[in-house]
Amino acid sequence: MSLAPDVFTYVADLVQRRAGIQLDTGKEYLVESRLLPLAQEAGHARVDTYVRGIRGIERPADVQAVVEALTTNETSFFRDGSPFTALADDIVPALRSRPGGLPRMRVWSAACSTGQEPYSIAMTLADAVGPETSVEIVATDLNQAVLDRAAQGVYSRLETNRGLPSAMLVRHFEADGTSWRVREDLRRQVTFLRHNLLESPPFGGGFDVVFLRNVLIYFDLPVKQAVLDRVLTAMRPGGYLVLGAAETTIGLDDGWERVPVARGAVYRALTGAAGTTSPVRPFLPTPARAPLVPTPTVPSPFTTTGTVPAVVPSAAHAAFLPTARPSHLSAPVRGESR
Ligand SMILES: C[S@@+](CC[C@H](N)C(=O)[O-])C[C@H]1O[C@@H](n2cnc3c(N)ncnc32)[C@H](O)[C@@H]1O
Repeated sequence: MSLAPDVFTYVADLVQRRAGIQLDTGKEYLVESRLLPLAQEAGHARVDTYVRGIRGIERPADVQAVVEALTTNETSFFRDGSPFTALADDIVPALRSRPGGLPRMRVWSAACSTGQEPYSIAMTLADAVGPETSVEIVATDLNQAVLDRAAQGVYSRLETNRGLPSAMLVRHFEADGTSWRVREDLRRQVTFLRHNLLESPPFGGGFDVVFLRNVLIYFDLPVKQAVLDRVLTAMRPGGYLVLGAAETTIGLDDGWERVPVARGAVYRALTGAAGTTSPVRPFLPTPARAPLVPTPTVPSPFTTTGTVPAVVPSAAHAAFLPTARPSHLSAPVRGESR
């Protein structure tokens, strides 16, 4: 049973307007399979009649349900490995070398899905920073259902088996029936908030590090550029952006310079919240490495789009973390590619 063309066009336009997600022709099957449970729940045997029923009114609850159903929430602990090694080995030392050191570190895990990414960041920082640094991790997603799961911090064996080193499992999780629950001290370090990347970051800005991984791939070029521009306004000058392995700022936004670590997925903000040029130099070379030289960026050929709503105050909290450092951060961590 195939989706009527007018229904697919409407859904693709809705998801593009509300979430920036691009659904090209050929994704009719995806739309139909993701929306069928919603249609059935609403008493419709077919997706066509369900969508035609909601499209005139566009009630917020219906729109949210449709948009959430069309997000892809694939994730895993320490996904792709090297960004977390770079966080511990390169980014934290570079931030610590700034004048005044690193008394406070603010990290944003944007598009965090079910929480494996922010908890992986928290586990990494538990070893990479000392008690002199308070850490705040703000984790956001458009999809409330995945955020609710993330905040619970309960993962099946299948999920913990994907990328979580057993030493980390033993240290940071406790058994919960046949599942594993993130220990309270780690859970308390992460604040989960609903946020749409099409809107301004609503948590006070000043981030030292932003993880924005495996979500730009769903956007078209103007949306990617608008999101990168917006993230830049949330950064401290000289802060670090970590993208997915298949994503880049190059050719999209010249506010960033590429830092040659983590298979090219790390970028440094040339300006920050106030649009000021960064007063700090890039990475200090760590003893075992050659000096790291930023890769030149290419000026953007695209125009910024999107609106910029008001900023609301931070809801994040700080936590002090221990100093010991596990060997797994120096070795590639088993990740999974998309
Ligand atoms: C593939 S997951 C990536 C999860 C994690 N960052 C990782 O790399 O493992 C993409 C996430 O982006 C979220 N997303 C999609 N569009 C979004 C938007 N406009 N604003 C915020 N989150 C969005 C989805 O809900 C989904 O959870």
